[in-house]
Amino acid sequence: MDKIVIWGGERLQGEVQISGAKNAALPILVSSLLTEGWNTFRNVPDLRDIKTIKKLLNHMGARCKTQAPGTIQINSENVRCCEAPYELVKTMRASILVLGPLVARLGQARVSLPGGCAIGARPVNLHINALERMGAEITLTEGYLEAKSKRLKGAKIYFDIATVTGTENIMMAACLADGETILENAAKEPEIVNLAQVLNGMGAKVSGAGTDVIRIEGVDKMHAVEAEIIPDRIEAGTFIIAAGITAGDVIVRGCVPGHLDALIKKLTDTGMEITPVEGGLRAIGRSDIRSVDIMTLPYPGFPTDLQAQIMAYLTIANGSSLISETVFENRFMHVSELQRMGADIKVQGGNAVVKGVSGLRGAPVMATDLRASASLILAGLAARGKTDLSRVYHIDRGYEQIEKKLSGLGARISRVRE
Ligand code: EPZ
Repeated sequence: MDKIVIWGGERLQGEVQISGAKNAALPILVSSLLTEGWNTFRNVPDLRDIKTIKKLLNHMGARCKTQAPGTIQINSENVRCCEAPYELVKTMRASILVLGPLVARLGQARVSLPGGCAIGARPVNLHINALERMGAEITLTEGYLEAKSKRLKGAKIYFDIATVTGTENIMMAACLADGETILENAAKEPEIVNLAQVLNGMGAKVSGAGTDVIRIEGVDKMHAVEAEIIPDRIEAGTFIIAAGITAGDVIVRGCVPGHLDALIKKLTDTGMEITPVEGGLRAIGRSDIRSVDIMTLPYPGFPTDLQAQIMAYLTIANGSSLISETVFENRFMHVSELQRMGADIKVQGGNAVVKGVSGLRGAPVMATDLRASASLILAGLAARGKTDLSRVYHIDRGYEQIEKKLSGLGARISRVRE
């Protein structure tokens, strides 16, 4: 198994190119299930989760081929199998995204119910309730959700929580339903807007994506499309924080500044200088970091997927910061590993008080989930001495060649066989 070794203390400098967004690419590749013909998707990141979703689509009978690095073609014309097996779903919860499109396209689906994960219980009751309101009959048999419907019907759906994949799942299902569907308290993430653009390119009638009310007028048939995946705002945010924690000067190319407003506001409050440049952002860090309070919220609030990374940064700030995690109930798994590096953090329920220390020390640490592993790499970049990060398979789920990109900015980081 691999591990990542970091020698800290280097100021990051230079340019880094951001990859396509994992959380846009996953639902967009799945949306090919709604169409006939060859779809072409560009700017698809080369990640373990993308490999998993391609395996799942292949398993159902879709044909996937890589036309060029970052470009994938998918033809779902011959999809007849409507099952998402436990072996695949257990490795990636986002597999639940096939549920809506399969019921809509084939009239049935058999999808392994995703279990909990390191960051929370993560139920999918809102996905199920919404499909039932559209007329699907859903039962749970031997750990599998079995859904049936001759043809889904348009319905008015209010989400108790602005769920991201819930919004995406139902938005896709509603494209082939009979009549209009209205999603209220829908999630507003940029990845949802990207998916809606692709669906409309396939002949769907989706309006209001990016607001909390989305309307979908069902159509009988959808066709293949050529589409682009948006840049990964979470990867971009991670590199901006890397500039901050190393007092560096980094140009983050290919990101969309408007997708990062909440982060930029908070980092500017800590004293960073973040300015738009052509095709991206320039991020300049300072060694005297001011403490700030953070509360994670659905978009456009502060993203929970950057909570661990900004916590690592605030461990070396002047003063104390309060971090409130309101989206997931168990997303502080990185705290004990940061404490091993000398951080001073106290957790109480969904709140963590981070008391800034003068510096971190390198140590052997273990990744517990995707974003926690990113925060430990950032801490390693700032720490004195050597940090060994194990269980790096977590980071490969969501970051394309992170150690290569960081060493391109001057970091002393490498991947070694354990
Ligand atoms: C998406 O997960 C992202 N994953 C997550 O990114 C991200 O952390 C999350 O949205 C929040 O921004 C993908 O897009 C593939 P939710 P999702 O449904 O859709 C509760 C990463 O690091 N809930 O918006 O699963 C749920 O438990 C990953 O890239 C229900 O109770 O998140 C949570 O507390 C991690 N019932 C809250 O809502 C439901 O049916 C928000 O979850 C659905 C959700």
